[in-house]
Amino acid sequence: MRQAGRYLPEYRAVREKAGSFLELCSTPELAAEVTLQPLRRFGLDAAIIFSDILVVPAALGQSVAFEEGHGPVLEPVRTPQDLARLSKARFDETVQPVGEAIALVREKLPPSVALFGFAGAPWTVASYMVEGGGGGDFSAVKAWAYRDPDTFARLIDLLVEVTAEYLLQQIDAGADVLQIFDSWAGVLPDAALELWALRPTAEIVRRVQARRSEVPIVVFPRGIGAGYVRYVDECDCAGLSLDTGVAPTWAARELQPKKIVQGNLDPLLLVVGGDAMRDAAKRILDVLGERRFIFNLGHGILPQTPAGHVADLCALVHDWRR
Ligand code: CP3
Repeated sequence: MRQAGRYLPEYRAVREKAGSFLELCSTPELAAEVTLQPLRRFGLDAAIIFSDILVVPAALGQSVAFEEGHGPVLEPVRTPQDLARLSKARFDETVQPVGEAIALVREKLPPSVALFGFAGAPWTVASYMVEGGGGGDFSAVKAWAYRDPDTFARLIDLLVEVTAEYLLQQIDAGADVLQIFDSWAGVLPDAALELWALRPTAEIVRRVQARRSEVPIVVFPRGIGAGYVRYVDECDCAGLSLDTGVAPTWAARELQPKKIVQGNLDPLLLVVGGDAMRDAAKRILDVLGERRFIFNLGHGILPQTPAGHVADLCALVHDWRR
């Protein structure tokens, strides 16, 4: 999950210096610095490269901006003409700083600390591309997918292709593990989930694994409930990242025998801290911690999180059953 960000004053300082959020993502020294900040404070076992899933639409030529207090704003892609304007011509050159940041971070991390690379899943990235931002009701992207699946498939196929290449580039740069974020998989009903979330993600995993089978991939299809079991059989990922709503006992029974599971403390409990946080974290560890497990949050860290609570949580996880 996200672990760098606005809850750390040292992040806010670098963010200010960088000017815009995308500028921060595309300046390797600064992106490397903010990646390492939480590692310096807390005894984390892994880092995740500081970047964003919306680097991909920007690299395809779509205009992407992050506006203070509004989140991302994109020039919507809604018609075949809009699709035709997307281009792979400058993709590699635009994402190159991410690879450079990965190489810088890998150099500075001890070998025992794993570095995650990541990308958004096609459905989630397409949602931002078509809606023109977040916070909406997904009516534009869903209507397109339902009304004209053949044209929508061209957008999804393009994202499958560039995302698989992009993840392979991250491995070449030094990423040890990859995560694919499908943050909005949960808005799709049954058959559409299969078609637009599961299959494109499974195809990316297949392409990356075909060339670099030694690199584990974690998939995060947020909000799909019992749909997680489909990923066990239909996606060749090594791990599944559980959102806050998945019951650990259910995951222990249905998912963990076949996949590594990661998760899933509610980020709001990290804001609250104290016994509420500790009890919930211990319950997760008691149910999932004996087998293949990565302790994590069930979604990204919130800006109002007190850093002291993160330190408390890391200590608790490391001391568990010691
Ligand atoms: O911890 C890390 O270092 C990883 C960095 C990371 C970011 N975004 C940095 C970021 C990761 C892994 C992401 C993934 C991402 N980005 C997702 C998938 C995960 C999830 O949360 O569901 C999504 C949906 C996005 C798109 C995105 N980026 C949104 C909706 C927003 C605005 C929301 C907000 O919190 O303001 C962003 C901006 C963003 N990406 C920030 C950070 C630290 C905040 C920007 C800032 O500093 O102003």
